[in-house]
Amino acid sequence: MAIQTASEGRVGWWMRMSARPFSAWVVFGGLIYLGLAIFAYAIPLLSGGEGLSVALMMLAAVPLLASFAGLTAKRWGFAVTVGVGAAFLVIFGLLSTSVLSNPANPLFWVVFSGLPILLLVAAFSFVSLRHVKTGLARKRYLASPRSSGGLVTLAVVGFVIGGLLVGNIAATTITRLLDQGGQVADVRIVRDAASAPEPFVPATLTIAVSNSVTWFNGDAMVHTVTSDTGGFDSLDLVPGASFSHTFTQPGTYTYHCTPHPWMRGTVVVQP
Ligand code: CO
Repeated sequence: MAIQTASEGRVGWWMRMSARPFSAWVVFGGLIYLGLAIFAYAIPLLSGGEGLSVALMMLAAVPLLASFAGLTAKRWGFAVTVGVGAAFLVIFGLLSTSVLSNPANPLFWVVFSGLPILLLVAAFSFVSLRHVKTGLARKRYLASPRSSGGLVTLAVVGFVIGGLLVGNIAATTITRLLDQGGQVADVRIVRDAASAPEPFVPATLTIAVSNSVTWFNGDAMVHTVTSDTGGFDSLDLVPGASFSHTFTQPGTYTYHCTPHPWMRGTVVVQP
């Protein structure tokens, strides 16, 4: 009678895992990357937009959990990853038009790398789901990395790394230009304002009545300067854009940013 020790059990587990088909590993790795990327984007937001940050972390849990469904290499597992892959493709597709035009946007690397990786995950999930009944081992491109499936995966990974390197160079240039702009503005929206302790600098500006105030968006994201009581609204201020408002009545005027309501500032108008 054989007695299985704990270490033999671990070896057995490792044998079972390494016997998983290549496509299951691609789906697993892709979804893990996606979840970690969303999570990494959400962490700095904790200091400002706690609600948004927690919501994004819960969103990140979806691909992280689904990745293990893909690793089962079973019919239900690939059904789950097809669904999750398609849902995130829609979300990233909707974000892509505004985010991909600006490499300095903090979401750029998430969307730029996420889209091709999601396409890879969705394609491998879909084809695996179709062939799982007859056995993935019979399709070399699903079973082994030494196949056309492996080459496609390598090409996607190479494309993502190359694009991120170029995007990083562009982001450095854009950030430097933004840092040098807006020197004559009264209030500056700082870099990474959505997670900055003081997004508007100065946080409180004091002026004499009948004077105007100019805000400059020095961040790589769109923000607004919006009165809490409806007196003025810049609407969307793209990176590098300015907005001016003349205060004709003394008083204390508080304002915020519409997409990031935790970004707050004050103008004190003295008689
Ligand atoms: Co904002």
